[in-house]
Amino acid sequence: MCGIVGYTGPREAYPVILKGLKRLEYRGYDSSGVALLNGELKVYKKKGKVSELEESVVGKNMHAFTGIGHTRWATHGEPSDRNAHPHLSASGQIAMIHNGIIENYASIKRELINKGYHFNSDTDTEVLLNFIEDIKKNNNGTLEEALRIALKRIVGAYCILLIEKDNPETIIAARKGSPLVIGIGKGEHFLASDASPIIEYTKEVVYVNDYEIAIVKPDELILKNLGNEKQTPFIQKLDMELAAIEKGGYDHFMLKEINEQPDTIFDCLRGRLHAEAGTITMSGVQNNIQALTTAQRMVMVACGTSWHAGLLAEYMFEELCRIPVEVEYASEFRYRNPVIKPGDVIIAISQSGETADTLVALENAKQQGAFIFGVVNAVGSSIARMSDAGAYSHAGPEIGVASTKAFTGQLAVLAMMALKIGYAKGTLDEKRYRELIKGLEEIPEKVKQVLNDTSAIEAIAEKYKDAHDFLYLGRGYNFPVALEGALKLKEISYIHAEGYPAAEMKHGPIALVDDKLPVVFVATKDRYYEKIVSNVQEIKARKGRVIAVATEGDTVIPGMADDVMYVPDADEILAPLLSVIPLQLLSYYIGISKGLDVDKPRNLAKSVTVE
Ligand code: G6P
Repeated sequence: MCGIVGYTGPREAYPVILKGLKRLEYRGYDSSGVALLNGELKVYKKKGKVSELEESVVGKNMHAFTGIGHTRWATHGEPSDRNAHPHLSASGQIAMIHNGIIENYASIKRELINKGYHFNSDTDTEVLLNFIEDIKKNNNGTLEEALRIALKRIVGAYCILLIEKDNPETIIAARKGSPLVIGIGKGEHFLASDASPIIEYTKEVVYVNDYEIAIVKPDELILKNLGNEKQTPFIQKLDMELAAIEKGGYDHFMLKEINEQPDTIFDCLRGRLHAEAGTITMSGVQNNIQALTTAQRMVMVACGTSWHAGLLAEYMFEELCRIPVEVEYASEFRYRNPVIKPGDVIIAISQSGETADTLVALENAKQQGAFIFGVVNAVGSSIARMSDAGAYSHAGPEIGVASTKAFTGQLAVLAMMALKIGYAKGTLDEKRYRELIKGLEEIPEKVKQVLNDTSAIEAIAEKYKDAHDFLYLGRGYNFPVALEGALKLKEISYIHAEGYPAAEMKHGPIALVDDKLPVVFVATKDRYYEKIVSNVQEIKARKGRVIAVATEGDTVIPGMADDVMYVPDADEILAPLLSVIPLQLLSYYIGISKGLDVDKPRNLAKSVTVE
């Protein structure tokens, strides 16, 4: 969370930074600001979205060729002008932006206060900045030296950019735990939290590693480790087009991304799934087939929507590969001192590849000798790089804060993995394997059918938009889909929603049912169908209002439900790739009918780089 941008080169820095901040706004939008270096060091910052910063500087002289900018997701200190980044050091000579959390800031702050420092904000960032300046002053050294010394005392996560009044054209950056990409242009450099602000100018990038410091000038990029040894920058080519990060005619990124799913799932399967030959090509799986087929246990580690993908993977891997699976919230797993044994495989699931809890949970597991397989969307991200092997979900950049296409991409990857491992292991016979491969190949076309006509879903959204609570129920493979539907509704429309296994509903949530409570049943045709029909009746008997996701052609569920959203028939293992789509759309349409900013829901951020 928090987006950072920097530029040094022959262009005007402010427009480059402003555009970059707008692209990174999904990472946080509590406040934003820029610092520009042009003989003087000037800082402009404002509470609220980047557009508010833009309005507040109209008419001001923003001329500079070097600058840094920040869009914030508040951690220490409420969202306000004074807590907005960049921060200025006590002398006014250095400006800094920061993404992350300095955990030992309180003790450092006390030290500095004892030395006579005053603070203008409540942030941990200003503490780190003055700490660096204090070291610089005491050592009579350079900013780079002071930074290196300071970072050795810092506990926490950071990506920081610094500019200094007396050091023209230079940006000094450092990272640990929070991402940093440097774009290499001709006589110019771009710095950002991800590649989206850079793609327009250059496709050559360097992903900075943890514990590295970058000294960036228009013509020069020097990378060093904290021991002051030079590192060779590893230049990579970005495989991303500008169109992928623009709205392309849609009102919102969320709607665009929901509608992209036939293509993104197809892209994920392309070159991997060969239905006719009956093969699945995944080098990450193939190269480690021994470890994967002999795994004693798999542990899915993830957060948010990715955790729901992990839950579905539990059903898939247990059924098709007969491997016991546990699904862990990364934030719990990392602190619980979990038992990790030889033969365990950790599967890390993450859209961004930067979620702090997931990253640290994996680092801990790796230290204990676990084999880590990453299912990640963002190419080159931290989790992708620290995994022993992996498979990208190839959904392309996801900008809407609530995850949609990344989720179905994760499911497609996990399904292919389960099929390949199960087949290699012999727990999945040829006939079923071929059936599922064929079923998976048909999914993109079926998603297209769901998206063809969304008018019924829009009408349902309008009808129920004023409800205060929703209950989402499903059984088997549709239970994680119910959880995901409830999460989407909470995120996008601020309506309280709970997901539950349909049968478990009798042990509590049924007490909530009355003629005002909408109950969404994910009730497609599967082995539990008869049972879920009974559950629908139980709700109807108590006058609950039933909205069902049902299989096309079904007549029983539609006969009982108040409203129905249809999906084409599919094997129950693959059905979640379809049944989640109407639920994504339902929350989208409820959100917009309530006039909410669905791409940037309040308090949320897309890439949660703090724990
Ligand atoms: C945030 C996002 C969610 C996402 C979760 C995990 O909460 O708003 O959409 O599911 O982080 O993120 P990851 O990038 O690790 O999948």
